[in-house]
Amino acid sequence: MAPPARARSRAPARRSAEAELVLAGRAFVRGRLQPVEIGVDADGRLAAIGKSVAGARRHDVGERILIPAATDLHVHFREPGGSPEAETIPTGSVGAAIGGVSLVGEMPNTEPTTSTTDRLDEKADRVRGRSAVDVLLYAHPSSPGQVAALGRRAGGFKLYLSPTTGIDRVPSAGELPALLEALARVDLPVSVHAEEPLAFRAGAAPTDLVGWDAARPAASEAAAVMRALAAPAALRLHVAHVTTAAIGRTIRDRQVSFEVSPHHLLLSTESGRDPRAKVNPPLRSEAERAALWEEYRAGRAPMVASDHAPHPVATKELPFEAAPSGVPGVETLLPLLLARVAAAELPLPVLTATACDRPARHLGQPQGRLSPGHRANLLVVDFRRRQRLRGDRLHSACGWTPFEGREAVFPVEHWRDGVRIVDDGEYVGRLDGQVVRPEYAPGAVRGAPPVG
Ligand code: DOR
Ligand code: ZN
Repeated sequence: MAPPARARSRAPARRSAEAELVLAGRAFVRGRLQPVEIGVDADGRLAAIGKSVAGARRHDVGERILIPAATDLHVHFREPGGSPEAETIPTGSVGAAIGGVSLVGEMPNTEPTTSTTDRLDEKADRVRGRSAVDVLLYAHPSSPGQVAALGRRAGGFKLYLSPTTGIDRVPSAGELPALLEALARVDLPVSVHAEEPLAFRAGAAPTDLVGWDAARPAASEAAAVMRALAAPAALRLHVAHVTTAAIGRTIRDRQVSFEVSPHHLLLSTESGRDPRAKVNPPLRSEAERAALWEEYRAGRAPMVASDHAPHPVATKELPFEAAPSGVPGVETLLPLLLARVAAAELPLPVLTATACDRPARHLGQPQGRLSPGHRANLLVVDFRRRQRLRGDRLHSACGWTPFEGREAVFPVEHWRDGVRIVDDGEYVGRLDGQVVRPEYAPGAVRGAPPVG
């Protein structure tokens, strides 16, 4: 019998000297800002980066700066189950695109939680044809037995160690080790919400941010982090929204990944009684905030993520005790931090490492760096175009921001796969973002990526 015909090997990649598109501007290359030309091939991948690149079409942004688009690995859109005023995949993802985010990691605490394969499939169906950016879907592993099946569909897992919005039941001390073992057998990123309810302070309902911080103190976060750090080394562990420099150092010393969030970097309990700034884990004191900022600015926090939690404004105008926890932020993540770069308070390479490169690598996505082969997901930034944030001008369905009046630098343009989706701050793309899952290089080290 004749051997089966060999599958025809794919045509070798075109090694054309000519790119399909050339973006000319300035970029940070080999440690300094310099004029560059970036060639994009017909597949929307970066083909060449140099002083001069030939191409069929040319787009010159002059003195403006080209940076990779960001990955926000922690957002909550509210589908399914959101109220009529709640965020949807179209509203949240257009906000993401305008803020320079080309990929979001979407969390499973929707109603119902994304904890079965059917619900994952249903959420993926909701993304198709309705999202301005790519979406990686996290699953909620309610029992070890479900993990393998969920892992064949999900882009990652989110593990809640304390109750929070949409999450009532969390694994007990007895249940957690088996869950972590099961998660370690699946090669997907696992983000942990680290608060330990046994260390919460019971008592009177807090009526302000200082009280909220006291009720869910940093000690409860540190205790939960220690539970998570007991996970097998093979687990791609990532601790979400770390609120203090000391907790960040503990995690970093164990070579585990973590994120910090703009609200913990820029806001503190000094926002007083404002229920809009109520969030889990809570804002900390001004001294803690300043120390966390210093840790971040110095490049000692691996990633930044928004924890975009777009509660409708009416619910945030309830008395403090009754208001839900969470703040919106996917659209303002990068613009707020670009404004700190413009003010010379944050090095641009720290921002691009923490918002673009490492989150994409952690989620196994070929983007986030100006490297040949990476997707041409790029932003054009003009640092002279600073503006003051206004909640009612943002694209989120919630229409408010805890950063009202803060300086921001929005990208002027956003290109996805070599196609312009934001022009002069307006969304001009199609709703054709894809559901993506991690693809780690064969033989790559499992576990958390190096944080250096
Ligand atoms: O404040 C929070 N809000 N913390 C969470 O863990 C969930 C989030 C939400 O979904 O509203
Ligand atoms: Zn969250």
